[in-house]
Amino acid sequence: MNALKNTVKAVLPSGMLNYGRKIRDKSQLSSLQALSFKEQNLRSLDKTTIDEILNDTHSHEAWDETRNAIAAIFGDSDKYGGVNPGDRQALYKLLHGIKPQSVLEVGTHIGASTLYIARALKAQNPSAKVTTVDILDVNAPDGPWQSVGLDHTPKQFAEKLDCANQIEFVKSPCVNYMRSTEQKFDFVFLDGDHSASSVYQEISAALDILAPGGIILMHDYYPDGQVMYTDGTAITGPYLAVERIKSENETIRVLPLGALPWPTKQGSHMTSLAILTKA
Ligand SMILES: C[S@@+](CC[C@H](N)C(=O)[O-])C[C@H]1O[C@@H](n2cnc3c(N)ncnc32)[C@H](O)[C@@H]1O
Repeated sequence: MNALKNTVKAVLPSGMLNYGRKIRDKSQLSSLQALSFKEQNLRSLDKTTIDEILNDTHSHEAWDETRNAIAAIFGDSDKYGGVNPGDRQALYKLLHGIKPQSVLEVGTHIGASTLYIARALKAQNPSAKVTTVDILDVNAPDGPWQSVGLDHTPKQFAEKLDCANQIEFVKSPCVNYMRSTEQKFDFVFLDGDHSASSVYQEISAALDILAPGGIILMHDYYPDGQVMYTDGTAITGPYLAVERIKSENETIRVLPLGALPWPTKQGSHMTSLAILTKA
């Protein structure tokens, strides 16, 4: 199925793929009934505060150490489908600056982002933890790590990087997990299924388990659903989901991180990371 999808992607022009994705996203999203979005626990943030955190020189040394340690065993390219190296740096620096006690990650895949999250938490507070949820068993012998050609599972990489105690791996559809857990999280990172209908449901569920002053960070938020990189791809799901949420909830806002001080991918400094905040 994946092979067929990849062949279709390789053959069709990106404009046509973007159009098809947008039609599918709009149609699936419009068939969902409205959900509740309890924004009261969301932290109010502005771009200046985010930029200060990203540029904070105090985290540079810890970042360099983590990047070198991870690059030595995991590599530092995005060829395996994890978040790109520039976004890993942004994620690390945000967590270093925000210092959450508990993080929920949706979408473990090969664990690229998970390792940076775990190392950022450990650098601040060894008792802080990340729970990472994936619909697949990411540590299974035939998990995503194996299909992309890595030589270790995410758990094994975490053990090598001395941050396995920071991580709990959960295999579950993420909305089921969020609707059933008793735990509250200070920081939720959404990087799972990026379709509009999934993101709409994920944000509703994430707000319900957010601790006071909590933060929701999204990946693959393309402002206005427009192309951001030279590959011509436009991922529309997170943007369309947030547009609907904003139209139904006047106080919810989105803060795209925009251009980062360092490169992200395809020769760009642009990131698709965006923070959900409130007015
Ligand atoms: C883009 S990848 C995540 C990349 C990862 N953050 C990294 O840096 O390695 C998306 C992941 O979300 C998972 N996923 C898709 N739909 C999901 C769902 N409904 N619940 C939980 N995980 C899901 C996929 O199995 C896939 O591993």
